[in-house]
Amino acid sequence: PKRILTGITTTGTPHLGNYVGAIRPAIVASHDAQAESFFFLADYHALIKCDDPARIARSRLEIAATWLAAGLDPTRVYFYRQSDIPEIPELTWLLTCVTGKGLMNRAHAYKAATDINAANGEDVDAGINMGLYCYPILMGADILMFNATHVPVGRDQVQHIEMARDMAQRFNHLFGRGEELFVLPQVVIDEAVATLPGLDGRKMSKSYDNTIPLFEGGPKRLKETVGRIVTDSRAPGEPKDPQSNALATLYQAFASAEQCAEYEQALREGLGWGEAKQRLLAQLEHALAPMREQYEALIAKPSDIEDVLQVGAQRARSIATPFLARLRDAVGLRRMS
Ligand code: TYM
Repeated sequence: PKRILTGITTTGTPHLGNYVGAIRPAIVASHDAQAESFFFLADYHALIKCDDPARIARSRLEIAATWLAAGLDPTRVYFYRQSDIPEIPELTWLLTCVTGKGLMNRAHAYKAATDINAANGEDVDAGINMGLYCYPILMGADILMFNATHVPVGRDQVQHIEMARDMAQRFNHLFGRGEELFVLPQVVIDEAVATLPGLDGRKMSKSYDNTIPLFEGGPKRLKETVGRIVTDSRAPGEPKDPQSNALATLYQAFASAEQCAEYEQALREGLGWGEAKQRLLAQLEHALAPMREQYEALIAKPSDIEDVLQVGAQRARSIATPFLARLRDAVGLRRMS
């Protein structure tokens, strides 16, 4: 069966990149009646980069409310928190024991951290915890626990899904005895928005502090953030290169092809940056305002969200518990009689 699965790390406020790269395509895909969908809050992943409990707690609430406001139907989709599924860290260990250290050495997130240390003349592993190092194994467990076939993500996650395939293949080879224990997951990427740029034109990312929040702060914050998108100093009337900053790409993520062509044409013909930001803002408001209203209603009732997640965890565990038992058996962790 087709199984769609994706998660978001609960370290911050959901931004346009999360929405366009993961949430929106995942929800669209979940409308496929032939598919089962698994959407979750990656809160164990959050502990790798964040030791502020209040921030983690708040982020879990915001991200859960965002999924629901964006149209996730928890009666049709498995919607849960990673940390409510104890089978996931158990599977992580089984996978850890079949994953080469060399593979983890090549993981982007770890490598990026060592490169920064090296550039600063420090010990390459300074300040790096084992969570960051083994991050792709926990993610592999998220995916393989439910035998996901399709994983919609932004481009920055592609390598992790390839690694999950490696782990699945190795595990099948060692313990499958001819049977496919794990299905090999495939990545689903919307090329047009696989890397949504942030305010400074680099990838929109919590770590670059260049994000545009999806709902938090309301229209006022959205307007203020759009105002901070970096542009050059060309005056109104001067022709502009639509690709010289993030505006056109952000616009494109929320507009039709025609609207987009018009927008870029207007820039080439001298539309002022201020006016261009106004038009982007209007386009964003049009898409986000109805969902924001939902979001605000949801976030005001954390206990309702908690109930939804509790039910989601129960449903997800009804799949995870028997499957983990099978995996334990496959590796030799069996009862003696
Ligand atoms: P995270 O929390 O960094 O991001 C969540 C999703 O948003 C996408 N994304 C973007 N897409 C386009 N443009 C951007 N600027 C942008 N920024 C973020 C990410 O690609 C991701 O799809 N490790 C994952 C969470 C995770 C997961 C999983 C995902 C844990 N287990 C299993 C899929 C399957 C992460 O930290 O994503």
